[in-house]
Amino acid sequence: MHQYKPKITNMCTYIMNPCVFIIFSLLLLLTETTTANQLVAVGGGGGGDDKGVVNKCSDKERHALLDFKVRSQDPNDHLYTWKAEEDDCCKWFGVTCNNETGHVTELELWHSGLGGKISHSLLNLSNLNHLQLSFNSFHGPIQTFIGSMTQLRYLDISENGFNGIIPASLGSLTELSYLDLSHNSLYGTIPLEFGNLTNL
Ligand SMILES: *[C@@H]1O[C@H](CO)[C@@H](O)[C@H](O)[C@H]1NC(C)=O
Ligand SMILES: *[C@@H]1O[C@H](CO)[C@@H](O)[C@H](O)[C@H]1NC(C)=O
Ligand SMILES: *[C@@H]1O[C@H](CO)[C@@H](O)[C@H](O)[C@H]1NC(C)=O
Repeated sequence: MHQYKPKITNMCTYIMNPCVFIIFSLLLLLTETTTANQLVAVGGGGGGDDKGVVNKCSDKERHALLDFKVRSQDPNDHLYTWKAEEDDCCKWFGVTCNNETGHVTELELWHSGLGGKISHSLLNLSNLNHLQLSFNSFHGPIQTFIGSMTQLRYLDISENGFNGIIPASLGSLTELSYLDLSHNSLYGTIPLEFGNLTNL
């Protein structure tokens, strides 16, 4: 009897400690879970932003497009989304980028009221494979530099004001599967080099 009582007291103190310990642990666990959730939330948001950054066009390509705009005539302000302040040129009107690399792959400026000269800066769009400029008012001779855009698979400059001969340099565009030069003021013969365009 005399020995039993202290045993209960001992048990009680022994039980109390784990209870406090468990509650304390639960509180800790809750805190940790909250922190973990917050981290996940922050991580998720960051991941979304990172994806945007990955898809964004490079400064070099953005400058190339801005130069194209400066050297074109755009009386209807069709290229109003092409602004230095908007640094993701992949969002500009008529511009398509590779969704993984952010490189500009397509320019679709069909029937946009554009005129003037096509800027040499397009040479800096090293992944551009589709150039659609038909139904505009670009004029003068077809510039030979276009023949250096050897990655082009699609080229349509029909329905413009181009004049003069067809440059032999276009025969270097061996990746072309589509070429339309119609409805311009071109003359002369089709260059022999066009025989190299075996994918047309
Ligand atoms: C990226 O582009 C490819 C080909 O156009 C498409 O199949 C894919 O679904 C796109 N991925 C994303 C995340 O948009
Ligand atoms: C192409 O980009 C380089 C810089 O990356 C620049 O110096 C050059 O002027 C650009 N060329 C054209 C034709 O815009
Ligand atoms: C392209 O065509 C020209 C004229 O037909 C020819 O002399 C030249 O070798 C060709 N180039 C290639 C890379 O096939």
